[in-house]
Amino acid sequence: MEQYKASEKRYEESDILYRRCGRSGILLPKVSLGFWQNFGAVAPLERSREIMRCAFDNGITHFDLANNYGPPYGTGEETFGKLMESDFRPYRDEMFICTKAGYDMWQGPYGNWGSRKYLMASLDQSLKRMKLDYVDHFYSHRYDPVTPLEETLQAIVDIVRSGKALYAGISRWPLEALKFAHKYLKERDVPLLIYQGRLNLIDREPRQEGILDFCKDNGIGFISFSPLAQGLLTERYLDGIPGDSRMSRGKSLTEERLTPGLLKYLHTLKKVADSRNENMAQTALAWILSQEGVTSTLVGASSSEQLMRNLQCIKSKPLCKEELALLK
Ligand SMILES: NC(=O)c1ccc[n+]([C@@H]2O[C@H](COP(=O)([O-])OP(=O)(O)OC[C@H]3O[C@@H](n4cnc5c(N)ncnc54)[C@H](OP(=O)(O)O)[C@@H]3O)[C@@H](O)[C@H]2O)c1
Repeated sequence: MEQYKASEKRYEESDILYRRCGRSGILLPKVSLGFWQNFGAVAPLERSREIMRCAFDNGITHFDLANNYGPPYGTGEETFGKLMESDFRPYRDEMFICTKAGYDMWQGPYGNWGSRKYLMASLDQSLKRMKLDYVDHFYSHRYDPVTPLEETLQAIVDIVRSGKALYAGISRWPLEALKFAHKYLKERDVPLLIYQGRLNLIDREPRQEGILDFCKDNGIGFISFSPLAQGLLTERYLDGIPGDSRMSRGKSLTEERLTPGLLKYLHTLKKVADSRNENMAQTALAWILSQEGVTSTLVGASSSEQLMRNLQCIKSKPLCKEELALLK
């Protein structure tokens, strides 16, 4: 296979593509690429390669992984490692690569949640799978109500001090725990760079619970995961459930989500998007990006065409009052 050479034009849209991540030196693309579901061993490697090349060729420098991405677990990182070796090694310093640990990854008492033992071992495994010496950013993937927060956070501090990750992050921690993490990490000169939470048109909890405001007020970047509600906020399910869709696989996105009320909302979104000459994903992402404090949206894509449609949101104008009222 011919050696990949990244597009010379990849930074042409820099002025509108990047946003500063909280109070930090890092710029991230408004659309970032996540490896949760579409890059595991069950996905064709050539499709993964095409999507990742498409991302990088269009200035998407931020790639989000976790130990358990696949399916099966671990294979999202393995695919990334393969593509790193074959295509992206020369571009390592142009990439911002993240991984996480926090969910069940291996059997026994040390392969889940937030202990120092788990986080340290997991990151070592992730680096091997991803064929990297370090990641740019390491997250605690979820709040652990039992492990002392100091233990989880100190493990992250030590990971950063060891050079295995450059920055620290947390995902899905409740507001009070986020406040604690912010203070703990700041006092140890390892500031919290990113909070990752689910924020999209139909799931606004981080905004309602004050997490977004806290991040904004304290210089922490906020990244919205599942910004298209796993594909619901696109044209995908307007006329039934396509056979090749995430919902048809019935795991993380089930048919029960597609209630008559939601379908009605999706048709309203379609009307709003049409009136703006946009696709639904574009409008849905534009809404997220207009929320104060949001750094980036973390999209999944099962094709490069989907990714390109999503990327169009960087050219969208903010939604007007009437549009916002319709999509309330
Ligand atoms: N921190 C956490 O706990 C957490 C949790 C979940 C996700 N994440 C991160 O967030 C990333 C994104 O999550 P997600 O995959 O749920 O994101 P999403 O962007 O909301 O959903 C992605 C799915 O939507 C569909 N889609 C995307 N663009 C489309 C388009 N233009 N037109 C039609 N359909 C489109 C595709 O479905 P089909 O596959 O059906 O084509 C795709 O697989 C993950 O990869 C991961 O990195 C983090």
